[in-house]
Amino acid sequence: ASVTEPLRFDCYPERNVVVTQELCEARGCCFIERDQASGSRQGVPWCFYPPDFPSYVLESLNQTELGMVGLLRRKVKAYYPRDIETLQLSVEFETDTRLHIKITDSSSPRYEVPLQVPRAMKRAENPAYSLDFSREPFGLVLKRRASGVVLLNTTVAPLIFADQFLQISTTLPSTFLYGLGEHRSSFLHSLDWNTLTLWARDVPPTESYNLYGSHPFYLLMEEGGAAHGVFLLNSNAMEVALQPAPSLTWRTIGGILDFYIFLGPDPNMVIQQYQQVIGLPAMPPLWGLGFHLCRWGYGTSNETWQTVKAMRNYQIPQDAQWNDIDYMEGYRDFTFDPQAFSTLPQLVEDLHKHGQHYVMILDPGISSTNPRGSYWPFDEGLRRGIFINTTEGQPLIGQVWPGLTAFPDFSNQDTHQWWLENLKRFHAHVPFDGLWIDMNEPSDFMDGSVDGCPAGDLDKPPYVPAVLGGSLCAKTLCASAKQNASVHYNLHNLYGLHHSHVRLRWKRPFVISRSTFPSQGRYSGHWLGDNRSEWKDMSWSVPGLLSFSLFGIPLVGADICGFSGTTSEELCTRWMQLGAFYPFARNHNTQNEKAQDPTVFSSEVRTAMKEVLLTRYTLLPFLYTLFHRAHLLGDTVMRPLFFEFPQDMVTYSIDRQFLWGESLLVTPVLEPGADSVIGYFPRGLWYDYYTVRSGMLKMAAPLDHINLHIREGAVLPTQVGGPGLGASRGNPLRLVAALSPNAVAWGDLFWDDGESLDSFEKDNYSYLVFNVTQVGGPCTWEEACEL
Ligand SMILES: *[C@@H]1O[C@H](CO)[C@@H](O)[C@H](O)[C@H]1NC(C)=O
Ligand SMILES: *[C@@H]1O[C@H](CO)[C@@H](O)[C@H](O)[C@H]1NC(C)=O
Ligand SMILES: *[C@@H]1O[C@H](CO)[C@@H](O)[C@H](O)[C@H]1NC(C)=O
Ligand SMILES: *[C@@H]1O[C@H](CO)[C@@H](O)[C@H](O)[C@H]1NC(C)=O
Ligand SMILES: *[C@@H]1O[C@H](CO)[C@@H](O)[C@H](O)[C@H]1NC(C)=O
Ligand SMILES: *[C@@H]1O[C@H](CO)[C@@H](O)[C@H](O)[C@H]1NC(C)=O
Ligand SMILES: *[C@@H]1O[C@H](CO)[C@@H](O)[C@H](O)[C@H]1NC(C)=O
Ligand SMILES: *[C@@H]1O[C@H](CO)[C@@H](O)[C@H](O)[C@H]1NC(C)=O
Repeated sequence: ASVTEPLRFDCYPERNVVVTQELCEARGCCFIERDQASGSRQGVPWCFYPPDFPSYVLESLNQTELGMVGLLRRKVKAYYPRDIETLQLSVEFETDTRLHIKITDSSSPRYEVPLQVPRAMKRAENPAYSLDFSREPFGLVLKRRASGVVLLNTTVAPLIFADQFLQISTTLPSTFLYGLGEHRSSFLHSLDWNTLTLWARDVPPTESYNLYGSHPFYLLMEEGGAAHGVFLLNSNAMEVALQPAPSLTWRTIGGILDFYIFLGPDPNMVIQQYQQVIGLPAMPPLWGLGFHLCRWGYGTSNETWQTVKAMRNYQIPQDAQWNDIDYMEGYRDFTFDPQAFSTLPQLVEDLHKHGQHYVMILDPGISSTNPRGSYWPFDEGLRRGIFINTTEGQPLIGQVWPGLTAFPDFSNQDTHQWWLENLKRFHAHVPFDGLWIDMNEPSDFMDGSVDGCPAGDLDKPPYVPAVLGGSLCAKTLCASAKQNASVHYNLHNLYGLHHSHVRLRWKRPFVISRSTFPSQGRYSGHWLGDNRSEWKDMSWSVPGLLSFSLFGIPLVGADICGFSGTTSEELCTRWMQLGAFYPFARNHNTQNEKAQDPTVFSSEVRTAMKEVLLTRYTLLPFLYTLFHRAHLLGDTVMRPLFFEFPQDMVTYSIDRQFLWGESLLVTPVLEPGADSVIGYFPRGLWYDYYTVRSGMLKMAAPLDHINLHIREGAVLPTQVGGPGLGASRGNPLRLVAALSPNAVAWGDLFWDDGESLDSFEKDNYSYLVFNVTQVGGPCTWEEACEL
C-alpha cells in the first residue's frame, strides 16, 4: 500500500476474471479494493506487485568481445505455466548509439524473428550510454552519459519469463512517447493507464483497437530535446501498458525479449539508427508518387476507363488507375471477370500509351472450392504443399471474398516461387505495374477455420492480450496452424511482411500492403485502411501517417475523401488538399456510394482539386529527392515538427500540421465550415509566396486553398507545371530558394529515369546540391529584416 498509484504495476492483467483478494494474494501481490481506494482513477490496478517481489537473480556476469553475458536464475516459481528457470542475458555494445539486450531461455531455443541485422565487428568504443545492473531482484538501469538521464530502469517491477507470458517494465524519463502501432490515436500517446495491443487485425480503424500492423517500437523525447528509441524484436501477440509514473510494461506471449535501444541524440538520428537495424525503405518509382485513383465497384473495366478518360478530359494529373476486388471473376486471385472486365487488357494498354500505370488488388486467400483442373493457383498450390495447414496436416480452410479459401504460407520459399509464377501468368494478360496486397493480417471472415480451432495452449494460451474479440483467432486463422517457419502463433504478425517479399522485379516494384511489421519499408508502402468519409477520419490520418514515418515506412497514405460512407464536396475538397501532401496519394471509395473522384464535382471544386494536384506535381522533384534520402539514409519524408525543432516543446504534441522533409510546412484545414486555420510556426522565417510568418497564426484558408510554407534556408527543386498527366512529363526543372536572414539557402535533388531497378546502387542517376548565397550581402528583403 506504500506504493503510490502511478507506480502500481498490474499483477493481475487478466480481463476475464474478477480479481479477488484471495486470487491476488495467491500471486504474492498487494490488493486494494477499488471502493476502499476512493478517488482512485480508472485503470489503476487493484492488484499490484510489492516492491520486493521476487523475480530472477543475476548469478554471474562475464565480459565478452562485444559486451557481456549473464545468467539469471528464477527465485520462486512464477504463477504462469512453464516458467523458465535459467535465462541467458546478453548485452552487446554494438555502436556508440546502439545497444542490444537479449534475454532468452539459457537451455532450449525459442522462436526468434529472423531479422538480418548487420553485425557489429567490435565493441563500441565511446558509447553514449552506461548500463548498470541490480543483482537481486534482477534489473537494469540505462543512462545517457551526457545528461545522466535514466532512459530505462527495469527494477520497478519484476521480470517474468514463462513460456507464454513474458513481462518487463521500465520507468520512462518523460511522458513524450510516440510509436507503438498500428493504432488510431493522437501522435503523442496518453500515459494515463493506456494499454496498446499489437496483433494484426482486419477492422475499420477504431480508437484502442489492435489494427492491421504490428510495430513494437517507441520514440521518446527526453527533457532538453534529446531523443531515444526502443525496439522489441518480437512477433507474438503483445500488450504495451502505459501508466503515469511515467512507465511502460511490455507483455508478450511468446518469443524472447530482444531489445535494440537507439540513443540518437536527435529524433531524426533515432529513426535512422532504427532503420539500420530493420533495413532502409525501398526507392519507389517516380510514378508511384503521382496521383492514384481507385474505387470498389466501378463494376466494369469500361466504367473504370470512363473515369480515366474524364480525368484526362479535365487535364487532371493522374499516374495510376486501380481496381478493387470487383475486377476478379468470383473474387478469385489471378483472374479477371471475362464479361464485365473483358476490356481490362485494352484499358491497361491505353494507360501505358498515356504514360500512366495500372495497379490491382490481390488478397492472400485462394479459393478452394473449384472443380479440379479449373483453377491453377489452388490445384498447383495443393500439389506443391504451400498452404498453411491445420494441426492435422491438412490445408486450413477459412472464408474470405471468394468463399472458402486456403491460405498460402509465405514463410515457405516454395510459396514465393508459386506466387511469382501466378503473377507472371496474370501479367501476360494484364500487364499491371504495381500490386495492392490486402487482407493479409490474414483476414478470415470466420474465427479460425471452418472447423474452429483445436483446444490447446496455442489457441487458448494462459494469458490473452487485450485483442479485439478476446481471442487470438478472432477473424483470423487458428494460432496452432502450421507454417514452414513455425506455428501461426509466432508468425501471425509477420504474415503481411512475408506476403510483401514476393514482387516482380524487372522494374522498380510498387507494392502497398495493409498488414505490416518492422522492415516492411524495404518491400512495400502502406495505406491506413481508412474506412470512413468523415472529418475525424481525415484528421486521424495525420498522426497515423506520422507514426509510419517512425516505423521506417515512408510510402504511406490514407484513402483520400474516405472509403466507406458518403463524402461531401467540402470534405472531399479539404481531403484532396491534405491528400496531395500524403507521401502516397490515392483517392479510394467503396461500392454503392456516390463517386468521389475529382471529375464528379462542381467546376469550382474540381478546379481546386486540380490546382492542389498540380502543386504536388510541381513539387515531385523535391518529394522524390526526400524518398531518395529515406532510401539512402533513413530520413523521414512526412515529418513531425518536433523532428526539426526538438528544443521547442510546443511542437511535441502537434499532429495537425506536418513537414515534408525539413522545410515544407503543410497546414491543412481539418474542420468543416472553416475559412481560416490556426497553425504553429516554429522559430525562423517561413515564406509563402507573399508573406513571412512566425509564431502561432491564424491564416485565411478559403475552400480552394491549402496553406504551405517554406522554411528559411531551403532550396526546393520543382518542375514546371504544364500539359501531360503522368509524373515524368519531361518538363523543365526549377528551383525555389527561401533565403535565411543571412541570405543563404541549401537544397538537393536526386533525379533518374524514375523507374529502373536500383538506379542508385547501379550509379545511374544525378545528384545535385544547391547552395545559394546572395550577392551583395545578407538580408535585403525588407520584411525578413524587420523580423
Ligand atoms: C562466467 O564465467 C564463469 C567462470 O568461467 C563461469 O562459471 C560462468 O558460467 C560464466 N557465466 C556465463 C553466464 O557465461
Ligand atoms: C530505479 O528504480 C528503483 C525502484 O523504483 C529506485 O529505487 C532506483 O532509485 C531507480 N534507479 C535510478 C538510477 O533511478
Ligand atoms: C465495353 O466496351 C467495349 C468497346 O466499346 C464493348 O465492346 C463491350 O461490350 C463493353 N463491355 C461492357 C461490359 O459494357
Ligand atoms: C502441409 O501439408 C502438405 C500436405 O498436405 C505438406 O506437403 C506440407 O509440407 C505441409 N506444410 C506444413 C508447413 O506443415
Ligand atoms: C522451411 O523452414 C526451414 C527452417 O526455418 C528452412 O530452413 C527451410 O529453408 C524452409 N523451407 C522452405 C522451402 O522455405
Ligand atoms: C476497410 O477498408 C479497406 C480499404 O479498402 C478494406 O480493405 C477493408 O476490407 C475494409 N474493412 C472492413 C472491415 O470493411
Ligand atoms: C540507366 O538509366 C537510363 C535512363 O536514365 C536507362 O535507359 C538505362 O537502362 C539505365 N541503365 C541501367 C544499367 O540500369
Ligand atoms: C553547401 O551548404 C551546406 C549546408 O549549409 C554545407 O554543408 C556545404 O558545405 C555547402 N557546400 C558548398 C560547396 O558550399
